[in-house]
Amino acid sequence: MTISIKNDDDIKKMRIAGRLAGEVLDYIEPFVQPGVTTDELDRLCHDYMVNVQHCIPAPLNYAPAGHVPYPKSICTSINQQICHGVPSDRQLKNGDIVNLDITTIKDGYHGDTSRMFCVGTPSIQARRLCEVTYDCMWRGIAQVKPGATLGDIGHAIQKHAEASGYSVVREFCGHGIGKNFHEDPQVLHYGRPGQGLKLQAGMIFTIEPMINAGKRDIRQMGDGWTIVTKDRSLSAQWEHTILVTPTGYEVLTISAGSPVIPDSVI
Ligand code: MF3
Ligand code: CO
Ligand code: CO
Repeated sequence: MTISIKNDDDIKKMRIAGRLAGEVLDYIEPFVQPGVTTDELDRLCHDYMVNVQHCIPAPLNYAPAGHVPYPKSICTSINQQICHGVPSDRQLKNGDIVNLDITTIKDGYHGDTSRMFCVGTPSIQARRLCEVTYDCMWRGIAQVKPGATLGDIGHAIQKHAEASGYSVVREFCGHGIGKNFHEDPQVLHYGRPGQGLKLQAGMIFTIEPMINAGKRDIRQMGDGWTIVTKDRSLSAQWEHTILVTPTGYEVLTISAGSPVIPDSVI
């Protein structure tokens, strides 16, 4: 396992790619309304990335080992879909919760971020799942500093999710990111304090917990990409790209429309 330490030039470019990914989410937010299809959201984001931001949507034709090439430019995961939901002619309806996951490539560097969006007025339970998952992500981020471990991050996330009555998906994790979409290390969203890789300034990785309202078990759909909860319970996910700094962390995918940081972290 080789984990790249980014230099000042890499970091400058990662800040740009990260901010652009966040700004795609800012751009698309007003379009996430009952009746819109996920294909329309995909097309709008694709055109914004390519024609306005002059960057490349990393998911399009992405083909890691064991996968057919991903056919769209963003991921749209609705309700019991955990991640990698493929945009289609399905219309969003009042009460849905949907994760939009954006990965840009700018100047050879990747920025990766996702948010949950409420369509109309979802149930109190659905909204609570989105909020708790957001807090889980931030509790993980708050652990990041040189000398802390990946286990510290995973533990903070798992503890909050399970104390809230939810479960943590095990099969998918955060990841190193830079010139490659997915690099080492794997950033698990569960774990034990003090265990695993020690963090060093200059590492960049994502934290992207997937939290299920029911059991943690997953199933893959026939399209080869979409992952759903086996028990059909709701699932939520948020994602940021994080730089380890000499004193702590810098979130590279923050943009003007990012939701406020939870009180528990400040
Ligand atoms: N953006 C996802 C992640 O956070 C990966 C999506 S891979 C795709 O790692 F091919 F489905 F786009
Ligand atoms: Co990611
Ligand atoms: Co992502």
